[in-house]
Amino acid sequence: MAVKADAKVVVVGCGISGVAAAHRLVSAGFHHVRILEASARSGGRVKTGRLGDNIVEIGANWIHGPSEENPVFRLARKYRLLDPEALSPENQAMDVGGHPPYVPNIFCSSGRKLNAEDLHCTQELFAELLDESSNFASQGGEPWSCVGDFIRSQIQQRAAEKWKDINATTRSLRLCMISNMLKLECSINGAHSMDEVGLGAYGLYKTLPGLDCTFPGGYEGVVKNLMAELPSGLVAYNQPVRCVRWNNTETRENPVMVECDEESIAADHVIVTVPLGYLKKHHSALFHPPLPLHKLHSVQRLGFGTNNKIFVEFDSPWWDADCEVIYLVWEDEDDMVDQVPDIPRSWIKKLCAFTVLKPTERYGHVMCGWIAGHESEFMETLSEQEVTLTVTQLIRRFTGNPTITPKRVLRSQWFHDPWTCGSYSYPGIGCSAQDLENLMEPLPTKGSQSQPLQVLFAGEATHPHYYSTVHGALLSGWREADRLVSHYSSVSPSERLKSNL
Ligand SMILES: Cc1cc2nc3c(=O)[nH]c(=O)nc-3n(C[C@H](O)[C@H](O)[C@H](O)COP(=O)(O)OP(=O)(O)OC[C@H]3O[C@@H](n4cnc5c(N)ncnc54)[C@H](O)[C@@H]3O)c2cc1C
Ligand SMILES: *[C@@H]1O[C@H](CO)[C@@H](O)[C@H](O)[C@H]1NC(C)=O
Ligand SMILES: *[C@@H]1O[C@H](CO)[C@@H](O)[C@H](O)[C@H]1NC(C)=O
Repeated sequence: MAVKADAKVVVVGCGISGVAAAHRLVSAGFHHVRILEASARSGGRVKTGRLGDNIVEIGANWIHGPSEENPVFRLARKYRLLDPEALSPENQAMDVGGHPPYVPNIFCSSGRKLNAEDLHCTQELFAELLDESSNFASQGGEPWSCVGDFIRSQIQQRAAEKWKDINATTRSLRLCMISNMLKLECSINGAHSMDEVGLGAYGLYKTLPGLDCTFPGGYEGVVKNLMAELPSGLVAYNQPVRCVRWNNTETRENPVMVECDEESIAADHVIVTVPLGYLKKHHSALFHPPLPLHKLHSVQRLGFGTNNKIFVEFDSPWWDADCEVIYLVWEDEDDMVDQVPDIPRSWIKKLCAFTVLKPTERYGHVMCGWIAGHESEFMETLSEQEVTLTVTQLIRRFTGNPTITPKRVLRSQWFHDPWTCGSYSYPGIGCSAQDLENLMEPLPTKGSQSQPLQVLFAGEATHPHYYSTVHGALLSGWREADRLVSHYSSVSPSERLKSNL
């Protein structure tokens, strides 16, 4: 085995996990580190764009749980990328369990605006059930296979008791609100439906304290600052890796060949950070020999869905000055279903909420619509004009105001991004902690006689608790770099001598 400084390490993918891995390896004294990135840019799903003069996030939006334990928060603070409020001890101490208490405006499909109080008990019950959904992982023996079935069954049971003095109209409206909340959970989880999110593993996801904050200058600032500390020329752009040929026993020195379109690169170690969506689609071409079956099964069992944003800008607001989120409740949806039956005709019904970009002095009147699932994937195929028209009709209907007209519209298209194939990962039906273990397990697997740590796996989907987040991705990159660092420091000098002879 080569000594650390000589070891050749190739990182596949220049998202936050790849950058974090390379950064840590270079800092630890590895001299031959390269990143191969398929696209023309770094950052991956951290992607800052523009809407007119405004900075908007096409990908990651918030630091989820900005507090001391969150490494993205610590980096953002170090690089001075945050507003003072986000740094305050009060903000860091706020524990919202992943659901910040945004001030809502609620509009119905008949054009009625509801009072926030009308939402309150439904929201409370829903939050209670999400909480209970999280408890199954530790207990085992979950009563339903998916979160959707669990929530529906519990609402039916508990509403009979809790809402027994409520008249049929109000009861029906509350069930419509549940449909809305299920759709919002689809966006949060990056799933087509909560019927595809496994109940047993739902609680694996952990939150951190701190009220979610954004980057006034754009999320990409974190990536740019990390990259600035790397040697220049370390990243090769427009270099999609087509195949990782590992377990090569012909030459003793470089067990892995990384094949790109025009070039093949020999390496001792490859850290693969491609998104799970890409892995699901391309694993058979990407690995030779193929992934071991237990790993492949986990790639298939873990979920990777689509969540997109539709930014809409207005000359003047049609929501209250203090409003932070707008919910759209369809009054014909008391079936508690989060999937739209006729997608080409009715995909817009999946767009369940808009968050309002704050502060207004910075952004003007911009809101961000959230749409998940196959409906979102269909939306990606439409022209920007078609999306604009449909969103305009939606807003006019829910406000009852036929004159409201957006100034600008911009949407993300993560499903059709060839290097992402969706948005982020979630535990699918039947998943357990073992699937995440399998996903991060290096190749060759334990007990093999061939050279250890040839292929390592990082990226959002490989974090046991913080999957689907930027901090999870970052930590996974550091984890795999540390695996190599400790591997080289645990090799005794005599062994090193032997292997060099
Ligand atoms: C709409 C949306 C909103 C989100 N909001 C938040 C949020 O508010 N907060 C939060 O914490 N997280 C959020 N996330 C999730 C977060 O963005 C991701 O978890 C994180 O950025 C993933 O980083 P990564 O390094 O694992 O993957 P990526 O950033 O996807 O990086 C992987 C890289 O690999 C490259 N690649 C793919 N295939 C190849 C190949 N064959 N060869 C070479 N390179 C390849 C890709 O081009 C990409 O650059 C959001 C994501 C989306 C899509
Ligand atoms: C049902 O109850 C709500 C308030 O609880 C009330 O406003 C409404 O008029 C009632 N509707 C009917 C049909 O009784
Ligand atoms: C890797 O190579 C070794 C030695 O040639 C062989 O025994 C083993 O089966 C190979 N592993 C895979 C997954 O091909």
